[in-house]
Amino acid sequence: MILENKVAVVTGGCGGIGRALCERFAKEGATVYAADLTQQGSFDDESASGAHFVPLDVTSEESVKSLMEFVRERDGKLDILVNAAGIEIEKTIEDTSLDEWNRSFAVNVTGTFLMGKYALPLLRKAAANGSSASIINFGSYDGFIADPGLAAYCASKGAVHALTKAMACDHGPEGIRVNAICPGYIDTPMLQSFFNGDGSGGEGGDIESLQQAVRDVHPMRTYGTPTDVANLVNWLASDEARYASGQLWVLDGGLSAQVQQMKL
Ligand SMILES: NC(=O)c1ccc[n+]([C@@H]2O[C@H](COP(=O)([O-])OP(=O)(O)OC[C@H]3O[C@@H](n4cnc5c(N)ncnc54)[C@H](O)[C@@H]3O)[C@@H](O)[C@H]2O)c1
Repeated sequence: MILENKVAVVTGGCGGIGRALCERFAKEGATVYAADLTQQGSFDDESASGAHFVPLDVTSEESVKSLMEFVRERDGKLDILVNAAGIEIEKTIEDTSLDEWNRSFAVNVTGTFLMGKYALPLLRKAAANGSSASIINFGSYDGFIADPGLAAYCASKGAVHALTKAMACDHGPEGIRVNAICPGYIDTPMLQSFFNGDGSGGEGGDIESLQQAVRDVHPMRTYGTPTDVANLVNWLASDEARYASGQLWVLDGGLSAQVQQMKL
């Protein structure tokens, strides 16, 4: 168990990726807080994750502060912060309202900023006790290259990438590592809503054919699972990754490594 005696907070902890992270961290011996708007998160059920649920709105400074106070009272430190809460608006800039734009940035960027800001005192406590304290943000391969019809999402994820590097530079000297995971297509409710949505993902009608087309475009001929993400995050959160910081870890089955294939 590589996370024994560690304390972890996972935002979006009741979502597709967040739930898998909470389950894996708990299995690896950590005390885990799944922080989300509701215990259902992006699902219709409350299936167990081995984590303590804590209500959180990452866009609210008060909500973030009270979560950190709760963790301070219970555990006195924080070893691992994962910022996995996120939303995706499937629109071009022309179709995106200012409210939708602001909401994307509030959850994806400001949420990451607020959580990092108020976690730092507790992360410092863990680092002072010899833990390889770590923040893991969620960017996206869409922060490097764009999918059509996801303008605000792409822009917000690019901001998370830059913020990750800035945080790693500022807090590395305190023994706090900061990395971002940049997934490609991962099978979660967010991906399913992309397939079902009326943005670029849903065009063409037949969802089965669309899903197969998406698999086929990947060099690995499949999309990823939350477990694939948990395997990488689990290592990054552990002391084994003590020298890994400031990096954007792309996990996309090789998708962003290839040029678009022409059908000649
Ligand atoms: N699934 C993918 O294909 C994919 C690809 C690239 C990046 N990502 C990123 O990975 C992260 C997790 O995505 P997922 O697929 O698990 O999505 P998901 O929709 O299954 O889960 C996201 C969770 O965030 C929570 N959330 C939303 N707003 C919140 C707020 N204001 N405060 C607290 N929690 C809030 C939701 O309730 C939900 O449980 C996101 O940042 C997403 O952008 C996902």
